[in-house]
Amino acid sequence: MNTQGRPTRPAGSEGVAHRTFTGNRALDMEEALIFETGRFDATGVDIDEPAPFQSRLGPHARQRGLDLPGLAEPEAVRHYVRLSRDNYSIDAGIYPLGSCTMKHNPRLNEKMARLPGFADVHPLQPVSTAQGALAVIEALADVLITMTGMSAVAMSPKAGAHGELCGMMAIKAAIEARGEAEARRVVLVPDSAHGTNPATAALIGFSVRPVPAGEDGNVSAETVKATLAPDVAAIMLTNPNTCGLFERQIVGIAEAVHEAGAYFYCDGANFNAIVGKTRPGDLGVDAMHINLHKTFSTPHGGGGPGAGPVTLSPRLAPYAPVPFVVRDGEGLRLVEHASGSESFGRMTAFHGQMGMFVRALSFILSHGADGLRQASEDAVLAANYVRASLNDVMSAPFGDRVCMHEALFDDRWLKDTGLTTLDFAKAMIDEGFHPMTVCFPLIVHGAMLIEPTESESKASLDRFIMTLRDLAFGAKAGKRERFLPAPVYAPRRRLDETRAARQPVLRWTRPAPV
Ligand SMILES: Cc1ncc(COP(=O)(O)O)c(C=O)c1O
Repeated sequence: MNTQGRPTRPAGSEGVAHRTFTGNRALDMEEALIFETGRFDATGVDIDEPAPFQSRLGPHARQRGLDLPGLAEPEAVRHYVRLSRDNYSIDAGIYPLGSCTMKHNPRLNEKMARLPGFADVHPLQPVSTAQGALAVIEALADVLITMTGMSAVAMSPKAGAHGELCGMMAIKAAIEARGEAEARRVVLVPDSAHGTNPATAALIGFSVRPVPAGEDGNVSAETVKATLAPDVAAIMLTNPNTCGLFERQIVGIAEAVHEAGAYFYCDGANFNAIVGKTRPGDLGVDAMHINLHKTFSTPHGGGGPGAGPVTLSPRLAPYAPVPFVVRDGEGLRLVEHASGSESFGRMTAFHGQMGMFVRALSFILSHGADGLRQASEDAVLAANYVRASLNDVMSAPFGDRVCMHEALFDDRWLKDTGLTTLDFAKAMIDEGFHPMTVCFPLIVHGAMLIEPTESESKASLDRFIMTLRDLAFGAKAGKRERFLPAPVYAPRRRLDETRAARQPVLRWTRPAPV
């Protein structure tokens, strides 16, 4: 602890002549939690004592103050500004996370989302006063249906995983309507799938039967046929898949699944690689969620509030949840009740995440059909540029195969270096880069999944590639000291992530007075 009671920056500032008194390194400021720095006599607000009153809470009324530490107003402002400077963001540099992608969110989208008519709209205001907002939902729904070649879309789900839940609930409702609820209780999920897929299926009572991906990273129609049986309700297949590859046998898989009386759920998180190139509806998909944050540049909801609209085939459209927007003689209105229809019900209190809809529609309209197609092509080009530029120094699990929107490497090239994928990723932090996704997909040992997206320039990609090459050469040359203690220059060193996950400190206890 330093004299201000703040924990000092951990040792290991190689290259720094001496440790500073404050723990700060020039403008890189050490910042403790308010619990550690706050004072019990400090507050940013000054309000009058309330007039004496009789509490109706009786014995449940709080007997003493909350006993929380406080800061003066300028201290609170500085606290949050300093913390925000420790954040890495897409606005600060390339964010090469595979699978969960962050890409540039054009400020035009933000401006549109902040227009008072959209930003201040209230879900309970009369629909006659929210016609513009409903028109945005309707317009976005129309383009999503057109781009996917499906016949309906449920707009209310609030994240990709929530969209999966919605699609699978529609499938469950369709199976129940066929009187097969008891018979069809299994969902097929490839072992390369995102963890949310089996979790979704299990959450609504299905059991999960894994389907092994082949040596080439793809799921074959033959393997799917071998796992299909009369107890199968659906398959959940990601396309392009989590190895960054297009599922070449997707049409054959869809046919086999339909022949077996099951439904085809497609995890469409990676739709950003194929927009304008192919339509999932034409490939035989029955339900597919779209992660608006990946494909249409809205900020990632991180579980919400994001948006994960689900497109549905004609077979599933009748089971879509309420509410949905319809247009009739009097304009736009929301259908709020499922009774009397086949809709499986309601997933969220209201119609969805308005701000995300506005951002996505703004991205779509400002790009136009040709711009969206080019964004997909550029995303694939950027990933292949990264792949081809690193292939000679790192190992790719599926050889020289052209990838879609993300480039996948494994850890075979680190063999004999005494280093792991994690060491490599941590050393990237010292170079000022957010690491790629590591150790996912699980079927690839020590996986490194890099998704540059279409929004990085060639100059930015070159800087990234040169850095990774330099690190790779360092690893191979036995410069373990560059990796094992990394990150050395970050505000925090290597954390015990297992302990943080298993024994999180969620309670604060006021320290005894000294
Ligand atoms: C393949 C895949 N499926 C599902 C999801 C879940 O999406 P979300 O994080 O929006 O819930 C993601 C994450 O982006 C993903 O990459």
